[in-house]
Amino acid sequence: MTETNTWLITGANRGIGLELTRQLLTVPTNIVVATCRNPNGATELRALKDAAQGTLHIAPIDVSSEGSIKNSVSIVQEALGEGGIDILYNNAAINEEDDVPSNAKPEVFLRTIQVNVVGPMLLYQAYLPLLEKGKKMVVNMSSGLASIGLNHGGKCTSYSISKTALNMLTYKMTKERPNFTAIVLDPGWVKTEMGGEGAQLEPEYSVSHIIKLITSLKNEDSGKFFTYAGNIIPW
Ligand SMILES: NC(=O)c1ccc[n+]([C@@H]2O[C@H](COP(=O)([O-])OP(=O)(O)OC[C@H]3O[C@@H](n4cnc5c(N)ncnc54)[C@H](OP(=O)(O)O)[C@@H]3O)[C@@H](O)[C@H]2O)c1
Repeated sequence: MTETNTWLITGANRGIGLELTRQLLTVPTNIVVATCRNPNGATELRALKDAAQGTLHIAPIDVSSEGSIKNSVSIVQEALGEGGIDILYNNAAINEEDDVPSNAKPEVFLRTIQVNVVGPMLLYQAYLPLLEKGKKMVVNMSSGLASIGLNHGGKCTSYSISKTALNMLTYKMTKERPNFTAIVLDPGWVKTEMGGEGAQLEPEYSVSHIIKLITSLKNEDSGKFFTYAGNIIPW
């Protein structure tokens, strides 16, 4: 894709979000609004500005805070001028504990739902006017653990439930707005703080495939659950 694309990414200070921002900025026509909780402490993200061929804007968003999400809109709008957002990339998430149904803690469960589900929903709501001005794409970062069909067992109960709920939220988005292209995506098992050192994939590898997939999406792909490599995952 050589035309201009404007991306808004959450959790862009480390892990997959940082790598996604880095790779997107190698393309001069990309405009990336990279958001994170604490831009001042986001040393690696800020350093991307030096080598960037695309345009980088950094804005503060804590996805667990409705106020933070709402406050960010005017900051982003000012940075983009008249332009809209083409792709809202809900990447930020937490997976605090490898819990099972018999020991899952309500406070962990609720925090996980707040960050992983309510956050993406509020971002979608807050950024609808800017998304309406763009290509109307929403990418919600899910996980293979969200799939009942893949039968991953009892581990990571709170996290898995949150990602299954995110999948349903995405389905609802596509039904409410058929002119939007909204998908859920499993990046694979990736070497980040969340994925751990033992993970299978380097962030560079997963992200290069993710970009290829997203930049070739069509409206008929809306509502699908993809792997990073573009294969369909069972719900
Ligand atoms: N790595 C894997 O193997 C894997 C597998 C399947 C799915 N995923 C999904 O891929 C996405 C990225 O994961 P990752 O591996 O890059 O995870 P990661 O290395 O743990 O990074 C998580 C990112 O989310 C941010 N974040 C957490 N809470 C936030 C909040 N309240 N507000 C704003 N940002 C917040 C973190 O920012 P702070 O630095 O401020 O905490 C960080 O930037 C997630 O949606 C994850 O569920 C990852």
